[in-house]
Amino acid sequence: METKQKIEQADQQPLRILVFSASMRKDSLNTRLAKLAAQVMEKNGGVVDYASMSEFDSPSYNQDLEINNFYPQGAEEFCKRLLANDAFVIASPEYNGSMPGLLKNVIDWTSRFRPQPFNERHALLMSASPSMAGGNRALWSLRMPFEHLGARVFPDMFSLGSAHKAFTPDGEIADAILAKRFEASLVAFMNLVEAAKNYPCIKKAWVEFLGEKTDSLIERVE
Ligand SMILES: Cc1cc2nc3c(=O)[nH]c(=O)nc-3n(C[C@H](O)[C@H](O)[C@H](O)COP(=O)(O)O)c2cc1C
Repeated sequence: METKQKIEQADQQPLRILVFSASMRKDSLNTRLAKLAAQVMEKNGGVVDYASMSEFDSPSYNQDLEINNFYPQGAEEFCKRLLANDAFVIASPEYNGSMPGLLKNVIDWTSRFRPQPFNERHALLMSASPSMAGGNRALWSLRMPFEHLGARVFPDMFSLGSAHKAFTPDGEIADAILAKRFEASLVAFMNLVEAAKNYPCIKKAWVEFLGEKTDSLIERVE
């Protein structure tokens, strides 16, 4: 009976997902992809918190600025929005085979909050680019800091190649097979986050560098 009640209560909690594009460009392809992801997740029962990169953009990281708990406003906002949601989805451009500097910069700033807000947050990575590979290398580079910080990065990633030709005028993905795969990736991600949020059965602690003593200079993961 108690279990049934718990399941019923769990059923009442919708997933909250922060979605944003890491491009500040007005006609950004990644922003189109992020908006489409938000629509698809809402259609599938998620509650989307849509943000724009300009809300999180921060001045270049400098450890000397970290006096009296100073954090730039963009990092404060990113931290707040991560904590308010169960998961996050980023559509990121690829710059020179890697993630954009402005995104890494705000990740570095935000990693300084305690509790560290990426830890145990679920993440889905996507990209769009006019190139054939769709900016996929940016996503491999993004996995590194996120996994380092304890985020649960979904194994599947979605990269939209030839993205300048891939959208319909209404912002849908024109290719029907690709559109179906896009929705399937998002739904698979939502199912995993939903399971972790409402039906946790195994709690696993992950510790980097076994035996390392916690020290404010070297400590990165709580
Ligand atoms: C500095 C810079 C570097 C870029 N490097 C790459 C790259 O390595 N791979 C790629 O596919 N596209 C690259 N591009 C092209 C971007 O994918 C393209 O401009 C894309 O539209 C940017 O994303 P957005 O439309 O969301 O702003 C680069 C663009 C810039 C400005």
